[in-house]
Amino acid sequence: EHESKANVVWNRTSVTQAMREQLNGHQGKCVWFTGLSGSGKSTLANALEVELNRRGYHTMLLDGDNIRHGLCKDLGMSEEDRAENIRRVGEVARLFAEAGIIVITAFISPFRSDRDAARALFQNGDFIEVHVDTPLDICEQRDPKGLYQKAREGKIKDFTGINSPYEVPKSAELTVNTAELSQQEIIGLLLKQL
Ligand code: PPS
Repeated sequence: EHESKANVVWNRTSVTQAMREQLNGHQGKCVWFTGLSGSGKSTLANALEVELNRRGYHTMLLDGDNIRHGLCKDLGMSEEDRAENIRRVGEVARLFAEAGIIVITAFISPFRSDRDAARALFQNGDFIEVHVDTPLDICEQRDPKGLYQKAREGKIKDFTGINSPYEVPKSAELTVNTAELSQQEIIGLLLKQL
């Protein structure tokens, strides 16, 4: 593998990110949602994309459940597999940003080192980490997919918040609690941040 990599060069494209952005009328960016299962990541990511689309921005939404059916369908929930999941998502997000698109991602992304590696792929200011900081007991009460109950019954190993860690972000651009703020209020904060 190393030997073949050594023979791969980096091709510069004639059309640059700046040129793509100029055509789109705005910059490419990544809004990275992180938080527990059931915290509201997907709902907020979706609502943000609806609002940006309505305002004429070029967007793309990458959501954990969907990506795990395709690009990452070979991956499970071990720490190593989550790291690989987030690595791929970060690289794909960067490609969208290079295309001049506002890419929104909704993954638990429980490990700080994985999120920081994704952040490192972007220019300063182009990676907006949003911690959806809904308390575990509320996520567990909501339990939209019945997964917390299964995890409590010992039927799912490595379930985030129950028997697998969630490392709270230390430098998120925005922290929101869906139990305290309405969706509309949170979308307002996000638009201000963007
Ligand atoms: S990660 O940690 O970022 O790689 O996870 P992600 O790709 O976002 O996938 C999370 C969704 O997978 C379902 N699921 C689990 N979540 C956490 N732990 C375990 N063990 C697990 N098994 C399946 C769950 O529906 C997550 O979706 P959300 O939308 O977060 O509830």
